[in-house]
Amino acid sequence: MALSQLRLTVLLLPYFILCATAFTTRSWQAASQLAAQKTAAMTIDEKVGVLTGVTMAGSRCNGDTHPVARLGIPALCLMDGPAGVRPGTGVTGWPSGINAASTFSRRLIRERGAAIGDELRGKGIHVWFGPAQDLMRNPKGGRGWESFGPDPYLNGEGGYETIVGIQSRGVQACAKHFTANNQEHNRYNGSSTVDDRSLWEMYGYPFLRSIEADVSAIMCSFNRINGTFTCSSPKLLSDTGFLRSNGFKGYVITDWGADHGFAAENANAGLEMEQPGEYDPQLEGGGLFANGGLKDSVLNGTVSAARLDEMVKRVLTPFYRLGQDSGFPETNFHTQQTGGPYNQNIVVRTPQHVALAKEIASASAVLLKNVRTIRRPGQWYGNGGQNQREYGLPVTKSKIANMAVIGEDAKLMDRSLCNSLNECTLGTMSVGWGSGANSLEFLVAPADAISAYVGTSATIASSLSNDAAAGAAAAAGKDVAFVFVNAMSGEWIVDIVHDQGGDRNDLELYYNGKELIESVAAVCNNTIVIVHSVGPVLMPWSTNPNITAIVYAGAPGEQTGPSIVDVLYGHYNPRGRLPFSIADSEAAYGTEIVYDKTIGPLTIDYTEGLFLDYRYMEQNNITPRFEFGFGLSYTAFSYSNLQISNQGPFKVIKFKVRNSGSVDGTEIPQLYLGFPNGSGEPKKVLRGFSDVGLTVGSSKTVEVKLSVRDRSIWDVVTQKWVVPSGQFKVYIGASIKDIRLTGTF
Ligand code: NOJ
Repeated sequence: MALSQLRLTVLLLPYFILCATAFTTRSWQAASQLAAQKTAAMTIDEKVGVLTGVTMAGSRCNGDTHPVARLGIPALCLMDGPAGVRPGTGVTGWPSGINAASTFSRRLIRERGAAIGDELRGKGIHVWFGPAQDLMRNPKGGRGWESFGPDPYLNGEGGYETIVGIQSRGVQACAKHFTANNQEHNRYNGSSTVDDRSLWEMYGYPFLRSIEADVSAIMCSFNRINGTFTCSSPKLLSDTGFLRSNGFKGYVITDWGADHGFAAENANAGLEMEQPGEYDPQLEGGGLFANGGLKDSVLNGTVSAARLDEMVKRVLTPFYRLGQDSGFPETNFHTQQTGGPYNQNIVVRTPQHVALAKEIASASAVLLKNVRTIRRPGQWYGNGGQNQREYGLPVTKSKIANMAVIGEDAKLMDRSLCNSLNECTLGTMSVGWGSGANSLEFLVAPADAISAYVGTSATIASSLSNDAAAGAAAAAGKDVAFVFVNAMSGEWIVDIVHDQGGDRNDLELYYNGKELIESVAAVCNNTIVIVHSVGPVLMPWSTNPNITAIVYAGAPGEQTGPSIVDVLYGHYNPRGRLPFSIADSEAAYGTEIVYDKTIGPLTIDYTEGLFLDYRYMEQNNITPRFEFGFGLSYTAFSYSNLQISNQGPFKVIKFKVRNSGSVDGTEIPQLYLGFPNGSGEPKKVLRGFSDVGLTVGSSKTVEVKLSVRDRSIWDVVTQKWVVPSGQFKVYIGASIKDIRLTGTF
């Protein structure tokens, strides 16, 4: 065995030992009974301890609770989320949530969840702060990339599959941030004004799917909704409120210091756990349950003993339900110490995880433009002595003699200059920054992956900066020029990163990316642009005839380089779809970030109601440059045979998809529903999708079942889901605009 192999085996050994520990799950009912027994045996201090964080400085993880060792209850370790295990050693830097959404694949999203679950378990993390299910209300919102885009249905499905995956490994998922928490500016003092119907159909809807996935916990957000902080809102949290009336059986945790006022107000409203268990002067919140606050409230009767018991029982129930009481690995790391007994540097990434991270990154790359031609080269080009040259994608390695790799975004960042929030100086963008960032430890940058793949088969001229003149000099006379550009955003406005605080300032590419692209395209008529971004960017250059292909690769995680090589060179047939629209102006999105940072109550009006992104654009006859659900393939697909029938309460929609092109590939058929006139719904809303792998010439029948709720609108008067009467239209398409089949019921 080679030395390197030996080292790998030794490193992986502890992981396998940890994972070998089996766990037994229980039903909600059995777990709740056990939790109630334990609660009954606790002192009041022990009960309060289970419900309160041990402070930021005292935590090994992002948040810890107090243990009750005599009853076998450990300090719970709670950790971010939601793009893997938040920076630590020996973990995988997974593709972000928005890239998971781009796959439109329930299978891949669930597998991603299960693999993250394995890594969390291996580190001894009981609760994961993910998935994020905040809608990308405005594309500039700093944290939009953490969740699954502007569409509530896609967010619901993304969250559902992630939770099922995570929890299948015995780790608790905590969906966040509940809710209407859609920008970083004013996130502590903003009040989102949201009407009841939009709350249910848009900002609450994804969390209904979390509940249906048996989510263990839900994090209430920093903001207020209609004047009330979410963590003290009975309308959202009480037994008759949004979550519980929809069957939520887990517990509610505060975002960091997001509880305000008095302990009793929050506990009685439906809050169960306070994190990190201390006052935060920045947001003037937190520290209400801590320092005797909750205990005093019980002793003076403002919180009943029964409510306290209920809170503890709710926190402990998922712990027992997922079998965390037996064989769960000890927490073996410390976020704030570099040494010490906790830091065992256990490696939880595996070759299988790396392969899956790469597959998801490739599957989430969206081919936006591809002008594939084979023609005689222009006079500038050295074509390896052949008469014919290929333009566009995929690139055939053996046919390229001279090429260029251009852009700061192709390059590995200097990781020693990145802080713990992944705020890095320059380099490629694989994930946004903030608490949702993930590990860059094993990141393989595009330029390195390309040169490893190309080897000596071609001469590569590299210009790994955004210097437009240098980029053009590298590209001139080349068979192909790959230009990498990016746009970034992240959490929180205090640190100004790349000239912006959290939310993006605009939808432009970073560092004059547009000028770089245009200079390269001016001298190379086979310019291929790869965009790494946290969300939509303006692409006025997309129609430039010298730009033969564009790949929108999003925030793809550590396997960014190898995954894009596979797509560019045709080892992976692109199949990703846009989980948002790419329009030509900010105005096309119909919402705005409130940038005003003045302290004091501030209102963010959600006047657009149900009309976000494609819903707004269709309503206002705005044609985006690249629409929601759009993405090209190296093959072609045809659709036929739409059938609509009834099956109990379901409408069953069936149709056939065929690979009519010349290479194997995967199609993402989408179902959009048109509600009856007068229902107040957008013209089309996403209500189904599938990923269908098809070999050349083969076809499959796709079935989508629409439940009663899928066909309902939220009736604010009766406070019920109601199926509006009238004719529904069914649109089956390869995007919101590329509709191939229509029907009615
Ligand atoms: C605040 C962030 O809003 C939340 O998403 C995160 O889970 C916590 N900090 C803990 O890091």
